[in-house]
Amino acid sequence: MPQQVKRLIVVFVALILVFFVIRSFLVPPTFGEYGHYRASSVKEILSQNIKYAGEVVCEECHDDIVEIKSGSYHKRLSCETCHGPAYEHSQAPDEYTPYIPSKRDYCSLCHGYNPSRPTGFPQIDPVKHNPLRPCIKCHNPHDPTPPEVPKECKGCHEEIYRTKILSPHALLNCTECHKAPEEHKINPRAFRPTKPSSRKFCGKCHSKEAKVSEEIPRVDIIYHGYGNLCWECHYPHFPEAHTTKKE
Ligand code: HEC
Ligand code: HEC
Ligand code: HEC
Ligand code: HEC
Ligand code: HEC
Ligand code: HEC
Ligand code: HEC
Ligand code: HEC
Repeated sequence: MPQQVKRLIVVFVALILVFFVIRSFLVPPTFGEYGHYRASSVKEILSQNIKYAGEVVCEECHDDIVEIKSGSYHKRLSCETCHGPAYEHSQAPDEYTPYIPSKRDYCSLCHGYNPSRPTGFPQIDPVKHNPLRPCIKCHNPHDPTPPEVPKECKGCHEEIYRTKILSPHALLNCTECHKAPEEHKINPRAFRPTKPSSRKFCGKCHSKEAKVSEEIPRVDIIYHGYGNLCWECHYPHFPEAHTTKKE
């Protein structure tokens, strides 16, 4: 018999031995009871703590939210996708509070622009899309329909519209600041809309006395940027205080 065949036989015998050693010492005892499966793992899995309750359980107490969500863009997202495992909460709501993802980077996990996402999936660039504000300020997470933005002037002033839509002034109508006569849309150069002309104008919303939502930031309308028109420092269609702050 040639040398190399002998060596091969030795190798085969060794492999067969290894096989039997593994079978008798290393394969778990209950392996094979239900086919190619370790039977005792069923019990082990059963004994683990339940972490996820499932949306049906949430509905028992939060039927209002389940109903809002079921007609929304987020209808296919389960509650616990966003709130994390909430079984313990569903058993003892007073003791355990689920996680609430209120930061911008959470929504961007799914909506941040990424070319590998399917076309048509709503994506934004989180650096440009209304930065500094939490997403939930403008989008209800349980019904995230984009807010209605007045579009009537968009046809001819597309660039200003596109700029403004990403700014803190996103939801202000153009006509809030420019009174535009109907004829402007037909003969725009002959019929000009008004433009704000004084600091007082911006004070309607930004002075300490202004009777508007508390969330709108206020300045001292007399001393802040004294002597200059507001829009010499803040572009009115994209007013960002933080960019000026850095400089
Ligand atoms: C047995 C009733 C019950 C069930 C079931 C239940 N919850 Fe709640 N949940 C509550 C109560 C009560 C509160 C407290 C309400 C409050 O603080 O106003 C609460 C509050 C919450 C909050 C807000 C926590 C906060 O910090 O304000 C979230 C989020 C929440 N539940 C998610 C869920 C999810 C997801 C499920 C399903 C897995 C679920 N809940 C199932 C009763 C329940
Ligand atoms: C896209 C992620 C997302 C999904 C899906 C989601 N939530 Fe929320 N949920 C949030 C965020 C973010 C907040 C905080 C809202 C705020 O502070 O204005 C919140 C707030 C809550 C609150 C507290 C106060 C309130 O009423 O706004 C409850 C209760 C709640 N969610 C329950 C649920 C239940 C039940 C479901 C499933 C039917 C669900 N959520 C699905 C993200 C989500
Ligand atoms: C797990 C992934 C996921 C997360 C996290 C998520 N979304 Fe969504 N979002 C979706 C899906 C899926 C749709 C529906 C897309 C469709 O209809 O094609 C959607 C739709 C939307 C839309 C509607 C866009 C449009 O006009 O079509 C908005 C706005 C939105 N989400 C905002 C948010 C906000 C704000 C958060 C954070 C609180 C968030 N989403 C978290 C998956 C997610
Ligand atoms: C200042 C308000 C505001 C904030 C904050 C905001 N959005 Fe929006 N979002 C809007 C407006 C307005 C639109 C509609 C834009 C349009 O019609 O072109 C919109 C549209 C969207 C859309 C739909 C885009 C599409 O192509 O259909 C998604 C998705 C979205 N926002 C997600 C987010 C996420 C995620 C965050 C947080 C990182 C966020 N938004 C923060 C106002 C806001
Ligand atoms: C049919 C196209 C068209 C429509 C629609 C339109 N504009 Fe104009 N707008 C123009 C043109 C053209 C100018 C002149 C630009 C120039 O002189 O450089 C102008 C100028 C302006 C100016 C500057 C005026 C000045 O004296 O500097 C303002 C402000 C303005 N438009 C606001 C609006 C508002 C607000 C709306 C919506 C109610 C609107 N426009 C709708 C075409 C249009
Ligand atoms: C918060 C108030 C405000 C809003 C909202 C606003 N504008 Fe203006 N706009 C101004 C101010 C202030 C000026 C600058 C006036 C000046 O320089 O004399 C201006 C200037 C303009 C001009 C002149 C050219 C330029 O770019 O300076 C046009 C055109 C214009 N706005 C169109 C629009 C349109 C279209 C919208 C809606 C998409 C809009 N504005 C929304 C305050 C506003
Ligand atoms: C009709 C009310 C209204 C008017 C008029 C108005 N603003 Fe605003 N302004 C707002 C709102 C709403 C916000 C966003 C608040 C938020 O989300 O924090 C804002 C935000 C701002 C910010 C950003 C602050 C920050 O923290 O980033 C500046 C700067 C600003 N406005 C300047 C102006 C100037 C300059 C004018 C005059 C041309 C003006 N505003 C007119 C309502 C108004
Ligand atoms: C000389 C330049 C200048 C002028 C003019 C100016 N600002 Fe500002 N503004 C700034 C700077 C810089 C900041 C950021 C630092 C700060 O908060 O004081 C700011 C911040 C703001 C903020 C944000 C405050 C906050 O708490 O977040 C608002 C709102 C604002 N300005 C509105 C106005 C209004 C309205 C006018 C006109 C009455 C005006 N500004 C005139 C330079 C100016």
